[in-house]
Amino acid sequence: MQQPPADTIDWDEEFSVETVERDPSTGEVPTDPYDQSNANAGAVPFEGESMAARFGGQDGIRRIVERFVDLNFADPRIAAIFEGHDEVRLRRTLFEQFCYILNAGCDYTGRDMRSSHEGLGSRKADLNAVVENLQQAMHEEGVPFAAQNRLLAKLAPMKGDVVER
Ligand code: HEM
Repeated sequence: MQQPPADTIDWDEEFSVETVERDPSTGEVPTDPYDQSNANAGAVPFEGESMAARFGGQDGIRRIVERFVDLNFADPRIAAIFEGHDEVRLRRTLFEQFCYILNAGCDYTGRDMRSSHEGLGSRKADLNAVVENLQQAMHEEGVPFAAQNRLLAKLAPMKGDVVER
């Protein structure tokens, strides 16, 4: 009869499984070093305060980003692309990016769009799904349609960097 494996075997070691160590204070998985710059956000911010106001300031932007990330991770069309990626970091960096672009008083400290999406294999249809989820999140927050479209117009030129095929 087959014997149960000995308790002393470290299976992670046997199969070279690397455990991800999250930063205890931020809850994020550390990244390789990169140059931080607002230019990494990939768009020039709006001028004045009207766009930030239409998005409900930083509080509104925070709620939109939280809902947007929830929708993307739960969306069967694209969930597999997001699975296993650092959701904690994504919530923070996406908030910073939108807050920066909307001129709501933030700096963007994340990576540029090309390097953060390299190797994900996302396609045009995946981007469409992401945009639909963002529209849903903005709609739920009561962002006027024209203001939604002005933000989307800032994101549209990023297409070549976030989509591979
Ligand atoms: C214009 C549209 C998009 C914007 C503005 C955007 C924005 C961002 C930002 C700010 C980050 C974090 C960068 C960092 O960690 O330093 C990120 C990461 C990520 N994005 Fe996007 N994104 C877009 C489109 C997409 C699409 C279409 C997909 C796939 C369906 C996608 C999937 C991901 C994933 C999986 C990560 C995490 C990558 C990692 O953990 O290394 N994104 N995105």
